[in-house]
Order: sequence, then C-alpha cells, then structure tokens
Amino acid sequence: MKSSLENWLQNRLKEIRFFIKYVKPESVSDVALKAGIAPKRVIKLNQNENLFLSRELLLSLIDEVVNEIDPRVYPKEGEMKLRDSLGRYVGVSSDYITLGNGSDQIIDLILRTFLRKDDIAVSITPTYSMYKWSANHLGIKYLEIPLKDDFSLDVDGILESSNRREGICIICSPNNPTSNQFEPDDVLALIENFPGIVLLDEAYVEFAKESLVGFVKKHENLIVTRTFSKAFGLAGVRIGYAISNPEISTTISEYAQLPYSLNCIALRMPLKVLDVIDTFKESIERLKEEREKLVKRLNTIKSVTAFRSDANFILFTVKKPYEEVFDELLNRGVLVRKIGAVLNLRECLRATVGLPHMNESFIEALTSIS
Ligand SMILES: Cc1ncc(COP(=O)(O)O)c(C=O)c1O
Repeated sequence: MKSSLENWLQNRLKEIRFFIKYVKPESVSDVALKAGIAPKRVIKLNQNENLFLSRELLLSLIDEVVNEIDPRVYPKEGEMKLRDSLGRYVGVSSDYITLGNGSDQIIDLILRTFLRKDDIAVSITPTYSMYKWSANHLGIKYLEIPLKDDFSLDVDGILESSNRREGICIICSPNNPTSNQFEPDDVLALIENFPGIVLLDEAYVEFAKESLVGFVKKHENLIVTRTFSKAFGLAGVRIGYAISNPEISTTISEYAQLPYSLNCIALRMPLKVLDVIDTFKESIERLKEEREKLVKRLNTIKSVTAFRSDANFILFTVKKPYEEVFDELLNRGVLVRKIGAVLNLRECLRATVGLPHMNESFIEALTSIS
C-alpha cells in the first residue's frame, strides 16, 4: 500500500517537475552581499516596479484601509464597489470587469478556463514568460511567432501559425521586454481574424500612448488584462483585473474564479488610488520624462544601443556578452534583468526606469564596464 502511494506521489512530482520552473530573479540581499554594500544601496532595476510613487503616500493609503477592514470576515463586500470604480476608470460598466489576484492569476485563469487539449495558445516572441508557463502547465500547445525586426507584430504569421485552430492569442502591449506598444490596426486585425479569444495584456498601458480597452465593447472575443502592480506601485498587494464583454466576465467571475481571490486590503486599495488618481498620473508623467532622458543617456554610451520605450523599462543591447555585463553591474550594486537574444540581437538586457539618482548610478556603472 505504502509503496503504491509512494509510486503515485513520485510519478506526480516527476510530472510536475517537467513543467517550466519560474526562476525568481536575483534578490536585493544576494546582490548586496555580492557587491559588499548595504541592501538599501542596491539599485534595483529588474522588475519594473514604479519607484516614482512615494512610499509614504502608499503607506498612508494602506493605513486608511487598515482602519476600515475586519480581517476576521471573508472579503466579498467590496467587490461590486471595486468593479464599479474600475469600470469608471476604464470607461465601461462594472459588468465588464473581472477581479483577480494580480494579472498573472487572471491570465492563468483565462487560459485554464477556455483552453482544452486540442486548442492552441499562440503568442509572440520575445514576450512575457508567464504565458508559456501557464500553457505548459495546462499541457496546451504553445506557439511563439517572432516579432518583425522593427518589433512590430507579424499579423499574418500569427494567423497562419494557428492554422485556423481555435484557442487563445496572447498579445502583450506594450510588450515586455521590447517595451513598444503595437499598432492598433495590427491588434485589431488579430481580433477580427483569430479564431478564438485575443487576450491583450496591458500591464504597462498607463506608461504608453493609448489603450485599446474600448474595443471590448465591439469585439466579444477580446479580453484585456490590467494590473495595479506597475503604474500604481502596488506589486506587493496583488491586484489585477480583466475587461471583456459581460457574458465572458460574469462567467469567469461567477464560475471560474476562486470566491476570495482578492484579500480585504487588495479589494480597497484601488479605490483609494483612484480617489487621488491625479497624484499617480503626475508621477507617471515624471517617470515618462525620466525614461526619455535615460534612453538618450544610454545611447551616448558607445557600446550600448537602447530602444525607445512605451513602458517603464528599457531594452538595450551591449557589445560584450550580456551575462558578463549583468555580473559586472551586479558587482557594482546595480540589478537589471538578463534577457539574452531578442530576434537577431544577441546581447540584450532590460532596465526599469528608476529615480534620477538610481539612473545616474546605473549609467555610471554601465559606462565604466563598457
Ligand atoms: C507583461 C506583464 N504582464 C503581467 C505581469 C504580472 O503582473 P501582476 O503583478 O499583476 O501579476 C507582468 C509582471 O511583470 C508583466 O510584465
């Protein structure tokens, strides 16, 4: 009996380990140790968090929330109010909104809910790694269609690759890690011609020119996902949401989502943020100004090419092997993200747009290496 249980368990564990493992990025304490500096001196530019927002402001909003909640009670009360507010923020009615524990969780849920064994998930490459992770866990065929050399969408390539098979087409715009927002007409061509759902991940849209969320009113196969982790500085609180036609959103919310996916703080924080949205918009504008300066400064370093960005991070190439540059930056207390090959560009790294003094240290370190 025991050995059959053990066999079963070992087999399951083996199967699970066959999935793609999410490799967590380096931690601040590891970098501090390596660079021989205090953790608070580490320049953390690897996870696209928004440090332009004042921590004090966010903590004061959390303080207000803490005084309103009763942690003994299951969080459900605030859902309608939150869906209402988010609907107003994006310009749709509340029944278009699905709430989730970060947008990762909603994306995973959408794939889990709609895809069956013979369906496909098709996306672009390079893009955000979690789409492949979720598809892989579901045992779904995941197709990756390279972007064109100018980082635009290969619409025909995506449509042809799916070979008219139904499924989900996942487009990240602005795209992580290339940081560009795709042409609305290209996204629209996918929405109109892909035989299934188009999931448009707009995690970084607040830093970009425009959102395509208005398309959900006309196109019932479009689901847009958004997050409070980036522009609103709440990565640690875990709040994401999806916008889609009410039939899809209510079906997901009522039948597929776990009943208490948002905790009582996450349910209230967006309301506080939206109450003082102008303060947040101001910080986003400051970040965008700093982004333009940073791209220019990076491009003054001879061995560096930085690409224009519609997000809060910048993709850049280096002449030396990217891993070497990454390590040398680490030794100087600067943590960026390893990217590697992007299409025919072999040595790529990604850096979050930090506060001016952080960017200064980053530029100084990179200049001294290159
Ligand atoms: C493109 C993209 N989508 C979604 C997410 C996940 O965001 P969340 O914190 O809402 O799960 C990230 C996080 O880095 C991202 O880069």
